[in-house]
Amino acid sequence: MAEGTNPRETADPFWAEVDGYITHHLVGQDAVGEAILEANERAGLGFGAVAPSEGKLLELLVRACGAGKVLEVGTHGGYSASWFARAGASVTTLEIDPERGALARASLEQAGFGERVEVLVGDAMDSLAALHARGAGPYDFVFLDADKQRNPEYLEWALKLSAPGTVIYADNVIRAGAVIDPEGYDKRLGEGGIQAIRRFYELVAAEPRLSATAVQTVGSKGHDGFLLAVVVS
Ligand SMILES: C[S@@+](CC[C@H](N)C(=O)[O-])C[C@H]1O[C@@H](n2cnc3c(N)ncnc32)[C@H](O)[C@@H]1O
Repeated sequence: MAEGTNPRETADPFWAEVDGYITHHLVGQDAVGEAILEANERAGLGFGAVAPSEGKLLELLVRACGAGKVLEVGTHGGYSASWFARAGASVTTLEIDPERGALARASLEQAGFGERVEVLVGDAMDSLAALHARGAGPYDFVFLDADKQRNPEYLEWALKLSAPGTVIYADNVIRAGAVIDPEGYDKRLGEGGIQAIRRFYELVAAEPRLSATAVQTVGSKGHDGFLLAVVVS
């Protein structure tokens, strides 16, 4: 599909309104999260962080599965990492951009999570290999939220760093529905990005150690969704 021609790409303002309702009732005043998002904005980071309602979902999932150790690929300014830390987990989060890594460290420190969150700066492929080499893991919860084109490779590492019971959550795997089109194109992913996400689905489906589903969502960040997999053996 040619750049910008996916009619479903544009977020409906009504979805954002409904997100506002959910956040108002179920997330509420969130001084920690708001401070991190404000720091992101001051640093010109844009809107790469998960929405508050999804951050809360991540916290609840980590609590529900009693996850003590979380691995996050894609730190940005540390917003989603703060939700994992709030669930009481210790978090290792990977970020390629040194400025973002430093900002995340500062924001998480400020929020009182400095002891609980380790930010590793560098290409996630190198950081994952280093974590594996140092015998890190198994992690109880793995959040894939970096360059989605590389989810197939991140999945391999996630499995190496997992054990039965580990939950793998991959964000942004619907892309306004472009994922169902073998020729799909998403300008944020570039050429071949949608095809890489499709390969990710195929790898998950073919992996006997995983049981998975994906859920499409609409909200302040448009029409997208996540894939949730559990390592069953
Ligand atoms: C969508 S943002 C993550 C948002 C964050 N999880 C949150 O919700 O607050 C993706 C981040 O992944 C980082 N990233 C992209 N490619 C990467 C790579 N190869 N290795 C590590 N981080 C990468 C980007 O710099 C960006 O900060």
